[in-house]
Amino acid sequence: MKKFILVTGGAGYIGSIVCEILLKDGYNVIVIDDLRDGKSSALSNEVIFFEGNYGDPLILDNVFNTYSVDFIFHFAASANVPDSVKNPELYYENNFINTFKLLINMKKHEVKKIIFSSTAAVFGEPISLPIDELHPKNPINPYGYSKLMIEQMLRDFSNAYGMQFIIFRYFCAAGATLDHGESRLHETHLIPIVLDNALKKNKFINVFGDSYQTKDGTGIRDYIHVLDIAKAHILGMKYFDQNINEDFNLGTNHGFSVLEILNEAEILLNTKLNYTITEKREGDPAVLVATNKKAKEKLGWIPDYTIQDIISSSFIWRKNPKY
Ligand SMILES: NC(=O)c1ccc[n+]([C@@H]2O[C@H](COP(=O)([O-])OP(=O)(O)OC[C@H]3O[C@@H](n4cnc5c(N)ncnc54)[C@H](O)[C@@H]3O)[C@@H](O)[C@H]2O)c1
Repeated sequence: MKKFILVTGGAGYIGSIVCEILLKDGYNVIVIDDLRDGKSSALSNEVIFFEGNYGDPLILDNVFNTYSVDFIFHFAASANVPDSVKNPELYYENNFINTFKLLINMKKHEVKKIIFSSTAAVFGEPISLPIDELHPKNPINPYGYSKLMIEQMLRDFSNAYGMQFIIFRYFCAAGATLDHGESRLHETHLIPIVLDNALKKNKFINVFGDSYQTKDGTGIRDYIHVLDIAKAHILGMKYFDQNINEDFNLGTNHGFSVLEILNEAEILLNTKLNYTITEKREGDPAVLVATNKKAKEKLGWIPDYTIQDIISSSFIWRKNPKY
């Protein structure tokens, strides 16, 4: 019987790039996305698309009764830290409650394997760096809490019902392919905002705070190319054969401050950027950098792309986005 991968949030940024790679590698892909943040034009004709909520039992019954789903890649979420501080209701409902509904429908249809997109935000303010998987998890915003609650739910469902899971905690996802990239209505991620400044699509880059305990006072993040995230998912599917549930931090062991990103972009694009220092944002830790030792050892995952690759690929996309 033909096997499928169900991708929730496949019309969004990371989901659409993972779908692109899955299709290139010959996998059969189903997407559920309600297009609240994604775009239908990000979806390939080769994908079987269900427009709607990934927690909707009617859609899930329809998908699971019609297709033999082997793996679920769960990207759909509300994923904006400052917004989650203002609007926690959305984050607990869309991330936690809808994932609960997804899991009980997986249980009902005996679909066992899920790869869950978690985040560095589950760690909160780091007490040691780089952050490994055993680092204490004390989120400082509702987004991080909603994801941590899902991580715990996966463990409990696995113990009780034999569900198998992999948790990937991405640090800052960035980069693009020629066909897919970041295309949000309201952009809050640093690299697209920086590139839009180079392209004169915005007047200033807001640098949120320059008094963090970091080398230049601005926040430090670990940027990971989306194609490396896609690679981790492909390796993750093979890892399920070992029947072990695991969590992995996906980062590069190296962080860049906001000012360093601006500097890299100025050099690469041979341009001068305009920025202004503004207030720190609530819920933003000073430094988030991951060690990827565990992912290297257990999955054989090594990131291929540098910060220069990330900035250049995003720039090509933003100059001429396809949607
Ligand atoms: N972008 C990052 O830097 C980053 C970092 C860490 C973790 N993550 C996680 O990766 C995942 C994907 O992030 P992204 O940047 O691609 O976000 P995105 O907003 O571009 O994509 C999310 C997609 O999910 C869809 N969606 C949201 N709620 C839905 C629902 N209830 N039903 C159906 N579809 C729904 C949206 O329409 C969108 O297409 C998220 O789970 C996010 O928490 C992202």
